[in-house]
Amino acid sequence: MNDMHVDFFYAEPLDRRDVKAIRKLIPELSGGRESFGEREIAATAADHVVFVARTERGVGKIVGMCVVVPASKFGRKKIFVEDVIVAEKFRGFGIGRAIMDKVIWYTKATGCYCVDLTTRPKNEAANKLYQSLGFKIRETNCYRRIIESD
Ligand SMILES: CC(C)(COP(=O)(O)OP(=O)(O)OC[C@H]1O[C@@H](n2cnc3c(N)ncnc32)[C@H](O)[C@@H]1OP(=O)(O)O)[C@@H](O)C(=O)NCCC(=O)NCCS
Repeated sequence: MNDMHVDFFYAEPLDRRDVKAIRKLIPELSGGRESFGEREIAATAADHVVFVARTERGVGKIVGMCVVVPASKFGRKKIFVEDVIVAEKFRGFGIGRAIMDKVIWYTKATGCYCVDLTTRPKNEAANKLYQSLGFKIRETNCYRRIIESD
């Protein structure tokens, strides 16, 4: 994994090969999840920042990813990180850490004051990864209400 490289895309289309690779990665999120359509994935890079780890700079296969959602309120900017995923065969080689290091670099470079993310308490690998990077658990309840369509 010496040539592994982390890129990010913003406001530019992902090419078809990358879209397919991301579509395959998404169900590897812990807890399982159905993937999304190719069009929805391609559109994500229009208003979110998509980070991808490749086996080789520029040309390599995508083996890891995350999606960064920028937000701004009261004159302060922050980012939310979602969908941090490394392909199963490639876990344990430092790719998750490399992606998150790049996200932290991006946070500073874009003048954001913090990075927020959530993960399940039982997801040992993810919790250890985030804590090893200085993330602290916030004591807050996390709620969601699903809005049923009429
Ligand atoms: C969480 C995940 C992204 C980590 O990616 P990875 O490339 O395997 O992680 P790295 O090799 O960069 O490891 C970085 C650190 O994470 C922790 N870690 C990674 N895998 C671990 C495991 N199986 N058990 C315990 N800690 C682990 C360690 O602290 C490790 O540092 P160390 O190697 O110095 O001990 C990966 O396991 C994954 O994709 N899981 C499924 C999707 C998921 O649950 N994503 C998180 C959603 S919030």
